[in-house]
Amino acid sequence: MRKVTVVLLALCLLGASAVSAAAQQKSLYDRLGGLDAIKAVIDDFAGRVLADDRINKKFAKTDATRLKFFLVQQVCAVTGGPCKYTGNSMPKAHKKMKVTAGEFDALVGDLVASLDHFNVPAAEKTDLLNILGPLKSQIVEDNSTNTGTALPPSFKPAKPLPKKTLDAGPANKTAKPAKSSNSNSHM
Ligand code: HEM
Repeated sequence: MRKVTVVLLALCLLGASAVSAAAQQKSLYDRLGGLDAIKAVIDDFAGRVLADDRINKKFAKTDATRLKFFLVQQVCAVTGGPCKYTGNSMPKAHKKMKVTAGEFDALVGDLVASLDHFNVPAAEKTDLLNILGPLKSQIVEDNSTNTGTALPPSFKPAKPLPKKTLDAGPANKTAKPAKSSNSNSHM
């Protein structure tokens, strides 16, 4: 009887470790809930950003549909989903925008608020922020903690995407983005 109990216990432990190994093997993309979940978070996030006076001046000339498309595609790609990022590189997209360190932190705060809004668990939140956080040095051009700073008049926004690209969706690896004044390099 004792032997049977020991064998059963060993089997249970094996099963439990197999389950946790499977959970660890799941991509962050899958743990976040896939493309629809990412789209929902980005939609909510974009709404917060555009309503946030600490950063919204920077978006005055931007095509919001393009921005959301590439944010979804970027998050899908960097979390191991079935996407390839085809937008502008981070330095190129934010060049001459004069984003401050304070504004970067404000934007990350808005992202955290969106992730919390959708009850994204702490582990997935941390994993995503650990991927996006290091992009700070590619985006920030002014290391001050100031927020609400103006978009320099010389900033030229990227062009809206063609309907074909939008219809194909961010996971379509063959769709090409529109040629724009500054779209010749990728992240
Ligand atoms: C981790 C932080 C950030 C990520 C991952 C990120 C990502 C992106 C992506 C993927 C694009 C689209 C590029 C394209 O259109 O080809 C973009 C554009 C843009 N980002 Fe960011 N961004 C970040 C931080 C910021 C911050 C802090 C600001 C300003 C406060 C900002 C302002 C903008 C604006 C205004 C555009 C549109 C540029 C245009 O119209 O051409 N971003 N960003």
